[in-house]
Amino acid sequence: MGLLSPKNTTRTTAHLLPTVTALAVFSVTAIFLYKLLKRYPGMVPDVDMMFDCMDKPRINTTEHRSMPLPLFRYCTTEDHSDIPFPDWSFWGWPETNLRPWDEEFRDIKRGSQRISWSRKDWAARIGYGKSKLSNQCDYKYKIYAEGYAWSVSLKYILSCGSLALIITPDYEDFFSRGLIPLKNYWPVSSNNICPSIKYAVDWGNGHSSEAKAIGKEGQKLMETLSTDSVYDYMFHLIAEYSKLQDFKPVPPSSAKQLCSDSLLCIADYEQRQYLQQSTAFPSQAPPCTLLPADRNVIKSWKQQKKKIIKDVEDMEKVKAQRRSK
Ligand SMILES: *[C@@H]1O[C@H](CO)[C@@H](O)[C@H](O)[C@H]1NC(C)=O
Repeated sequence: MGLLSPKNTTRTTAHLLPTVTALAVFSVTAIFLYKLLKRYPGMVPDVDMMFDCMDKPRINTTEHRSMPLPLFRYCTTEDHSDIPFPDWSFWGWPETNLRPWDEEFRDIKRGSQRISWSRKDWAARIGYGKSKLSNQCDYKYKIYAEGYAWSVSLKYILSCGSLALIITPDYEDFFSRGLIPLKNYWPVSSNNICPSIKYAVDWGNGHSSEAKAIGKEGQKLMETLSTDSVYDYMFHLIAEYSKLQDFKPVPPSSAKQLCSDSLLCIADYEQRQYLQQSTAFPSQAPPCTLLPADRNVIKSWKQQKKKIIKDVEDMEKVKAQRRSK
């Protein structure tokens, strides 16, 4: 799929050449790429991006070592080079009654304040149910388990301000790096799930104020993940990616041009409501500034996370040994 945004024009936004089905899946993302162009007029560079809408990462880093293909999708793993991009749920997901993220977060946060920490249910709840998300924050512990790949539920679980027990995931989305074990969530080991959850809950019940503080930090992290910052993330990702292109992208002859009207055509009824609800306006402020890239910072960040997760596993082991004596 080629995606181009001619500079300094307000007319065209994207040239897409996917199948109709892929286009339907991609349409919400296409709508918000279009809004990104409206938000920062003339600032988003021309770019040729390949976007895969399927769940699982494809670019195995080992196999593609000599030349990793730049493929965008909604998640990646440590062993893949796929480039994570914000998923459609940030803009609302009509099929599952999810409203745009900022609205949903505001309500969840309000719901989380309905019951004080000491009166919250000590049970640990898994995932997110069918009831309104803002009514699901009455528990001290909430468990995140990924599904077939990454799950959009992560951000709603963290928003509750409960202690998030995250079963160490294989898949990462674009904000996963911001998750720091014992700072804004509790790591649960994926190969020892039940004892690990039990350990976390016992710990939390014995360290109420620390558990509450970690829950609050998780909620704070989600607050910084506003839709504004998601747009800025998209902007910088595309801008940095375009700097690596050593050719001038041009639309292929078979490309179809998308403008807001054609986006409205491919959107279904509910998507159209969302689209029309939030017309895109140029932003009053420029995008946030990006710190210079530093491989070492990322590397030590990852090592630090691994070490904390290992420390927790060791604590679990010590406890299990004591119990078996
Ligand atoms: C990546 O490819 C290597 C070599 O073929 C293979 O051993 C490894 O299991 C693959 N990794 C994943 C995550 O599929």
